[in-house]
Amino acid sequence: MKNDTRPLGLFDSGIGGTTIWHAIHKLLPYENTIFLGDSINAPYGQRSKEEIIELSKKNTELLLQQNAKIIIVACNTATTNAVSELRNTYNIPIIGIEPAIKPAALHTKTGKVGVLATQGTLKSKKYTEAQTLYPNVEFINQIGYGIVQLIENGDLYSAELEGLLKSYLTPMIEQNIDHLVLGCTHYPYLLPVLKKFLPSTLKVIDSSEAVAKRTLKILDENNLLKTDKLPGYSKFYTNKDVGILQSFINGSGIAEKLDF
Ligand code: SIN
Repeated sequence: MKNDTRPLGLFDSGIGGTTIWHAIHKLLPYENTIFLGDSINAPYGQRSKEEIIELSKKNTELLLQQNAKIIIVACNTATTNAVSELRNTYNIPIIGIEPAIKPAALHTKTGKVGVLATQGTLKSKKYTEAQTLYPNVEFINQIGYGIVQLIENGDLYSAELEGLLKSYLTPMIEQNIDHLVLGCTHYPYLLPVLKKFLPSTLKVIDSSEAVAKRTLKILDENNLLKTDKLPGYSKFYTNKDVGILQSFINGSGIAEKLDF
């Protein structure tokens, strides 16, 4: 088996995709990684499909210039709107991330699942079609207006954030959801605030571990794994605020500013 040391390329509309990076790095610590956070263009969730495709291609091409062996679209909005176009355009494995409605739909006892995601994700054809696979489940969808912007500003604990979350999630809780799907890669950073008011019996699900497992599988199937046991390098680039990105990667590497 060859030792493929080329990096994994990840991109997101901003810093949220670092939740995916953390899960991938935990499972694949020897892989080299390059992360792009397109914060200057965040949030993608309120952009048109055409704009999201254009931005996703720009990010992918930059990662390919850095010799990426695989692309991980660490953004739900970019995946649901642009992953098919990326797969049709680039001859390289491309992994996307979709809201984890399958495990929620399979395990719900009340038959009601809450989904918090961006407008771009919830209105996409890919997402609306995915829901129809579970006709016995009622999905209560809520657009997380304003949340990505707060997280992009490094705000994870303010009263404003907590107030917004309560206003979005209380009606779902009152309708008896037993699973809440976090359908945006920024949202796992909300867990400390969510724990303050969500019922302890409510199961909160995100897709980061599933994406990490899928990445391992695709690398293995395509003979792309880095097989040496040397710790991988991790490069993080943002086109906006280096300090904020640095605070989200917790000393896992050095964040740098790049114009893209
Ligand atoms: C956004 O840029 O609107 C959020 C990214 C996501 O959907 O994961």
